This record gives sequence, C-alpha cells and structure tokens, in this order.
Amino acid sequence: MSVDLPVALAEARSMIADAERIAVLTGAGMSAESGIPTFREARTGLWERFSPEELATEDALFRDPELVWSWLRWMGRLSRASTPNAGHEAIGLLQQQRRASNGAVEIVTQNIDDLHERGGAEVLGHLHGTLFTFRCAVCHVKAEYDLGTASEEELIPDPGLENLLRETPPACHHCANGFLRPEIVLFGELLPVDDFEASVTFIESADAVIVVGTSNIVQPAASLPFLALDQGAKVIEINSDSTPLTEYADLHVRATAATALPHIVPQPEGE
Ligand code: OAD
Repeated sequence: MSVDLPVALAEARSMIADAERIAVLTGAGMSAESGIPTFREARTGLWERFSPEELATEDALFRDPELVWSWLRWMGRLSRASTPNAGHEAIGLLQQQRRASNGAVEIVTQNIDDLHERGGAEVLGHLHGTLFTFRCAVCHVKAEYDLGTASEEELIPDPGLENLLRETPPACHHCANGFLRPEIVLFGELLPVDDFEASVTFIESADAVIVVGTSNIVQPAASLPFLALDQGAKVIEINSDSTPLTEYADLHVRATAATALPHIVPQPEGE
C-alpha cells in the first residue's frame, strides 16, 4: 500500500510502536545518502560496462583479478571515508531504545560497508559479508591487509574508478598462486551460514520488518520479507522507488532512508 508521505510516516510510526520484535533488512539504498553508490541505479563509470552480476562473481575474480580487486578495494576505501547518515543513526537509536526496555530490534544487511555499526547499531547478519576482512581467493586462509586511505580523487566515483583499475591484488603468503580478496559474497557463492541462519530465525519470530533501500531482487535476501509476511508480520518498505515487494508490503514509505527513518523512530526527549 502506498500513501501520502506524512500519512505513511505516521502509519509506520504506529506499526513500529505496536511491535515488540522488529527486524530491519537493509540494502544499498541505506548507504546512498552517505555517498556510496547503489548497485543497480547509476549506470555510470564501471557500471556502464559491467553489471554487478558480471563483476561480482567468482568467475570474474579469477578471469580478471586486477579489475575485481581494484573495484572492491575502492569500495572499501570509499566506505571507510563515508559517515553514517541520519537513517543509520535512527536505526541505531531504535535498537538501543528497545534493548533498554527488553525489546528486540535486529539488523540484517546486504551491505558490505560498516555504516550500521558506526551509526550505533549491532548487526545480526551481514548476509553479503564485509569489505574489511580478507582471505586468499585460492587457499581461503585469512590474511591481514591495510586498506589505506583514499585520495580525494578516488572518492569521486567515476574518475576514481577509472584511475584505480588494474592494481595487482596482494599475493597470499600461504600458497603459491593465491591472492587476496575481501570476504564479501560474490554471485554464486554461499552466504555466511551463521549470519543467514540467525537472520532467518529472528525474522520468523518478528512482528514487524522494516525493509530499507533494497531492490529486493537478489536471492536469498529478497525472500526474507516474504517469509515475514507468511508468518503474519507487518512489512514496512522504505524505498524511493517501487520494487517487487511493494505490492505485497503492508506499507510503502516512498522516501529516502535518511529522510524517513528519523521520523519513524521516537527521538530522545528534548530533541
Ligand atoms: P540495489 O542497487 O539493487 O538497489 C538499491 C535500492 O535502493 C533501489 O531499490 C533504490 O530504489 C533504493 N534507493 C536508492 N537510494 C535510496 C535512498 N536514499 N533511500 C532509500 N532507498 C533508496 O541494491 P541492493 O538491493 O542492496 O551484492 O542489492 C543487492 C545486492 O546486489 C548487493 O548486496 C550486492 C549486489 O550485487 C554484493 O555485494 C554481494
């Protein structure tokens, strides 16, 4: 159901107030207002030539390690240089408020950045892994790697991407032909089992699920709101656009994460 924004915000506030166990499922739109481009909207720079399905695959990693490594290193540096937006902070506040009163709010994200954590939240499931830990692409042994700091030029997505391409990935110290990669989930790879199982278990018991900034097309994450609907939970979608979930959600708040979320979460007294 899609309604006028003030009405939708009021409705969302009331659904959240009524819920005891709340899951927040987020995607790339959650971090867009922190300056991290989403995967499927901006068809500029690298995305003019590659779709995420072409670049973020194990095949691509072994076919063109420099390209995939350089893209992911750039993403890591950009994420590190970015700051949480008002939406991340509102979710962090909601979790802290509810935990202080023995309620439960758990965050499940497809994002490979750490902006939820830096916005004050604890994340139950990083379904697509993280840009900040590394392992060998061949022997899978974990490795230390210092992402370093991005230059100003690198922080401008398009020129940054073009300039950054073709850096050789660091060699693995454990095996002969290995090279490092961040521990993100590439297309075709399994999700981290513990994160996925914990997320499913919580979502099955939630009475409200807030789905923020995801196109709801990448499985299995896209099935989680439907799992919640099947269990009778209220599903609130916050997205500036429509998605395959929109017609099934109890409420669609057609707004950005940073504009909508602070209006939905009760603000501390005096603010
Ligand atoms: P997408 O790029 O597919 O979708 C982003 C969604 O966010 C779209 O539905 C936009 O309408 C919405 N959006 C954009 N800006 C927004 C804002 N400021 N506030 C609210 N909504 C906004 O991103 P994901 O659904 O996260 O996988 O993509 C899923 C996975 O595909 C990613 O995790 C990534 C990618 O391949 C990996 O990295 C493994």
